[in-house]
Amino acid sequence: MRRCALPGSCPAGFRILVSALPALSACAPVCRAADGVSSVLFRPAMRRADSSPRQEERRARSPAGLAPLSCGGQQGAISGGATMQNTSHAVMAQRVEPADSPDDFPTPPWATRALMEHVIPGETRAMTCLEPACGAGHMARVLREYFAEVRAADAHDYGFGEVRDFVVHPVEVGQVDWVITNPPFRLAEEFVSRSLQVARRGVAILARTVFLESAGRYHGIFRERPPARFAQFVERVPMVKGRLDAKATTATGYAWFVWLKEHDGPPRLQWIPPCRRALERPGDYPAGPDRRYRSSAS
Ligand SMILES: C[S@@+](CC[C@H](N)C(=O)[O-])C[C@H]1O[C@@H](n2cnc3c(N)ncnc32)[C@H](O)[C@@H]1O
Repeated sequence: MRRCALPGSCPAGFRILVSALPALSACAPVCRAADGVSSVLFRPAMRRADSSPRQEERRARSPAGLAPLSCGGQQGAISGGATMQNTSHAVMAQRVEPADSPDDFPTPPWATRALMEHVIPGETRAMTCLEPACGAGHMARVLREYFAEVRAADAHDYGFGEVRDFVVHPVEVGQVDWVITNPPFRLAEEFVSRSLQVARRGVAILARTVFLESAGRYHGIFRERPPARFAQFVERVPMVKGRLDAKATTATGYAWFVWLKEHDGPPRLQWIPPCRRALERPGDYPAGPDRRYRSSAS
């Protein structure tokens, strides 16, 4: 089987209706289509001349809620008529949450310690920090190990921190030294902009590695305000909806994106070395399920 002819995009602009066939490998049918073998569901993606990449992404969802995935040029597997889940990065990196979802995926504590130990090590003991999307507090509690004061808030009430929508009601300009969070992915760009206004010294955002991509984010953030550091986890950081799970796995890559107010120069790329085992602590994974959010913020 040949690989897709165009790296990073489907041959002939094909897209696949994945939720119509839940276990369907996203790329294999298209790759097969390129070989003239495929008979599975696909259709050409129509690009509208007046579309921004984000508008097009929204339009691409049909009224029936079918979420198209574009082909990343990697092979999946179909054998003997049965389909196997494609665990390629290109496919797994596209977690689709409903537009009104709080995107409640708590951060395993070791991943926050990795930021503090490997990416921004130094003296923060006398500094203040804001975690503006704290959820049940799994990141904020770790930050308290490193900062003099950590403020925590979330648009939803998890019984931890203040209930406050960071996009609608960000904290006052220059109120804290650092803003550190794992924001909802669909609002991550807004969170970066708000955080850069609020923080005096730096901003650290944990996001999927693919946050680095897209023309929209290039124009919205990276062209004018590139991060000082891009720190890629070499280990996976498994995140599960609504709880921490020490045994969870994922095919999605994560990185810390760090802006330093005093930084002047090109971004620095670094790899966060294997550190999960060294940075996990007893009690990091509560036995019961997390308290889920109780109500929306007004
Ligand atoms: C990926 S979870 C991360 C939770 C926590 N930061 C952590 O790392 O464990 C995203 C969080 O953002 C919160 N959230 C969603 N929209 C928000 C908004 N507009 N303002 C503040 N928090 C928001 C969700 O309720 C959820 O707790």
